[in-house]
Amino acid sequence: MSPASAKFITFEGGEGSGKSTQARRLAARLQKDGVPTVLTREPGGSPFAERVRALLLDPATPAHGPLAEALLFSAARADHLNVAIRPALAAGAWVICDRFADSTRVYQGYAGNVPAAVLDALEHAIIGETRPDLTLVVDMDVGEGLARAHARRVAKTERNDADRFEGRDRTFHETLRQGFLDLAKANPQRCVVIDGSGSEEDVAARVWGAAQRVLGIA
Ligand code: TYD
Repeated sequence: MSPASAKFITFEGGEGSGKSTQARRLAARLQKDGVPTVLTREPGGSPFAERVRALLLDPATPAHGPLAEALLFSAARADHLNVAIRPALAAGAWVICDRFADSTRVYQGYAGNVPAAVLDALEHAIIGETRPDLTLVVDMDVGEGLARAHARRVAKTERNDADRFEGRDRTFHETLRQGFLDLAKANPQRCVVIDGSGSEEDVAARVWGAAQRVLGIA
């Protein structure tokens, strides 16, 4: 695989949409097919960005508003790109990232009202040319997604507490869903909306079909 063919794929969607599972499955499938693949996530993916993640998701972190949030997510992203994503792509690996800049567009922009011009400038400065080749927006009924996220959290922590974003009300999550759908519509050349309902296998088959179509995988 030559570096020129390395692809950057992002997964986006609301809470409990199953996108993290699907990101893992796609990475495993590509690896099995002999494609060097790096699986990473945002916020996080580098030592500095993981520290920022801990701060952002800690329910004890005082509210600081969508603009400060956008700046923190962006600071984490700048480091993640520099120390992990760009070096991997340059070495010829495919990079699969669980959430990326579209999450900032939707959570802080669409839902948080940070002006598009601010986010445009941040993307221009931080992302530059390193744009995703394919963004899979995993779409899911909000009630179902929240129930899934809740069940997962209880199973993992035996506690019933949500992180700062998951804990918001249902209207907020409906807004997010619409935001991701609008964003996909506005960027049809790289975004594919994946129906997140059904079994993990069903969704994985839809993801693989989209990857084949958009990236020309045999
Ligand atoms: P995480 O536990 O990774 O959630 P999920 O499993 O849904 O991906 O937490 C990430 C949270 O941060 C999630 O609620 C979305 C939010 N977020 C933003 O608000 N802006 C961003 O730019 C990113 C990357 C994430």
